[in-house]
Amino acid sequence: MKRWQAIPALSIVLFLMMTVQAVAAKPKYIGVEKCASCHKANYLAWKTSSHAKAFNILKPGKRKKAKLRADLDPEKDYTADKKCVKCHVTGYRKRGGFKDIESTPQMAGVGCESCHGPGSKYAVLHDKKMYGFEKSEATELGQLYGADDETVCLQCHAHKDSPTHEKLDSKYRWDWKEKLKVRKAYHPKSKKKSQFSF
Ligand code: HEC
Ligand code: HEC
Ligand code: HEC
Ligand code: HEC
Repeated sequence: MKRWQAIPALSIVLFLMMTVQAVAAKPKYIGVEKCASCHKANYLAWKTSSHAKAFNILKPGKRKKAKLRADLDPEKDYTADKKCVKCHVTGYRKRGGFKDIESTPQMAGVGCESCHGPGSKYAVLHDKKMYGFEKSEATELGQLYGADDETVCLQCHAHKDSPTHEKLDSKYRWDWKEKLKVRKAYHPKSKKKSQFSF
């Protein structure tokens, strides 16, 4: 093979190697209990929040009025319905994420990693560096920052696939900055040092 022919071949090989590495390096969902071991206060607050319980409202008999208004059947069980589950659980069909309630019950509900990203890699960084890591290091490992980046919330909120939308009730109107202030929906701001700007 002439030298000029080897260059494209080599770049293809390099490209493939990088792709394989990127796939292998993809962070996994690890579940709220793992985060809880270090973030106890956030965990305890989250546990009582509506996000934590978001799976249960897919059960028959729950939120009857809201379901009727959204043209849903209040007596139907939606807990295994593909059209519903993805926004009421953590990491639906992703590595380590929710599959079904029998095999992955710990991933039911909107957990830490729905808003902070799959944690297998950044949790290691938190452990290693404690208070000393940069936001950029964390985002490289898959951490998300929902107060800087609205798309984190838009995975589920104000989404075309959701049966709840503002035409049904003004309470469903999406206003990112306003919704961020509803801290009881996830957890209060901690007093500890954090890199968050708000
Ligand atoms: C081994 C302990 C440990 C584990 C496990 C851990 N963290 Fe952390 N985390 C820390 C420490 C220490 C900090 C820095 C101080 C702080 O903000 O509390 C931190 C910071 C954070 C921050 C703020 C980041 C920033 O840039 O200011 C978030 C959000 C967070 N952790 C979420 C999580 C989530 C979600 C999980 C589970 C997937 C998790 N952590 C697992 C120890 C841990
Ligand atoms: C694209 C994401 C998404 C999908 C898909 C989705 N939901 Fe939701 N669901 C949400 C969000 C976000 C909320 C919170 C209310 C809001 O802001 O719209 C919610 C709220 C609800 C509520 C509570 C409403 C209230 O006022 O109490 C019920 C009940 C519900 N969803 C049932 C379902 C059912 C049943 C399906 C499947 C037919 C479904 N959802 C599919 C995102 C989704
Ligand atoms: C509905 C989304 C949501 C869920 C669920 C959620 N958080 Fe957060 N969290 C946020 C937002 C928003 C902030 C503010 C900063 C940002 O993300 O940009 C934050 C900040 C934090 C911080 C740093 C500052 C502080 O106040 O402590 C930690 C640590 C944290 N979250 C841990 C957790 C853990 C652990 C869980 C699960 C038990 C969890 N979060 C669940 C949205 C969420
Ligand atoms: C994985 C999907 C998902 C993500 C991501 C998500 N949410 Fe939610 N959120 C829901 C569901 C489902 C409910 C409905 C819970 C209920 O009605 O009991 C909800 C309810 C809420 C509520 C309480 C009801 C309301 O609309 O006032 C607030 C506030 C909220 N979310 C804010 C946020 C913010 C801010 C973010 C981003 C930092 C976020 N959510 C990310 C699914 C999600």
